[in-house]
Amino acid sequence: MLIHRRQLLVGSMGGLAAFTIFPAFGAVPPLKKKDTYKVGFAQTESNNPWRLAQSASMKAEAAKRGCQIVYTDAASSAAKQVADVNSMIAQGVDFIFLPPREEKPLIPAVMAANKAGIPVLLIDRNVDPTLAKPGVDFLAFIGSNFVLEGQRVADWTIQKTGGKGKIIELEGSIGASPANDRKKGFDDTIKAKAPGMEIVASQSGDFARDKGRQLAETLLQAHPDATIIYGHNDEMSLGAIAAIEAAGKVPGKDILVVSIDGEKDAIQAIVDGKLGCSCECNPRFGPAAFDIMYKYAAGETIAPMIINPDNFYDASNAAAALPNAY
Ligand code: AHR
Repeated sequence: MLIHRRQLLVGSMGGLAAFTIFPAFGAVPPLKKKDTYKVGFAQTESNNPWRLAQSASMKAEAAKRGCQIVYTDAASSAAKQVADVNSMIAQGVDFIFLPPREEKPLIPAVMAANKAGIPVLLIDRNVDPTLAKPGVDFLAFIGSNFVLEGQRVADWTIQKTGGKGKIIELEGSIGASPANDRKKGFDDTIKAKAPGMEIVASQSGDFARDKGRQLAETLLQAHPDATIIYGHNDEMSLGAIAAIEAAGKVPGKDILVVSIDGEKDAIQAIVDGKLGCSCECNPRFGPAAFDIMYKYAAGETIAPMIINPDNFYDASNAAAALPNAY
């Protein structure tokens, strides 16, 4: 479905020269064409390099365009992120950029902004698509294809191991779209293509390094025959590498660790032989996200789903990728 800002224009009554702009029922509110905007960016948390790189990119782009940015940090709480969005609505921002921490709890906040006449662009994470729709309840989604990321890591792992091994899976935050989709992409691929592989345990490490380390420690004790650890992000995978070493084993030799994100520490771990691969998930959203806002204000058509292309890192290209990594 494509939406066009001009579809939302309603002519005013009584021969007045000006047009009054009303959002049509079930439509995204329009955005007045201006040089600069007051925008909201409701970040989920700031406890890892990926989030810091995303926030830096959004703030730098706002500054470059002369936009005022209302920045909040939900400190890993979906409830706080909902309150943050509501506060942005009260402060009268023109536009909201939102990475919803979890798929369902943020839907009321998205709906509230839409109802208040503030277009919302979902960046990086999505809401439950059965409950809220791009082009209707929010402007659009821009981000990676998380299912594909999981598939690419599974394909690489199958190829590297000859389709054999026992896998421990460290899941991301419960209810977050990247956790759901990365699990689906990886698990379905292993099931379909590698009958000699088994996922022996799969639990959430909340996308955090220390939680990933603690979880890997516990699961390695419960499954001493595990040969592979798949982390839904680099932070948890780096935590797993620490847990493997603490258990007296050698990451990359006794246990293969595979991952997603492409952050600097992970790329370095590939160079060091401790991490097998990391599928990139690009956090630098600023330029593309602001482009979408300005295009929407200019009346251009905005696609409902805009997918970022991602690189893939392993020993063949990690050293070259290090200088530009975050
Ligand atoms: O939503 C993207 C994920 O969120 C990244 O993989 C992770 O590192 C971040 O916290």
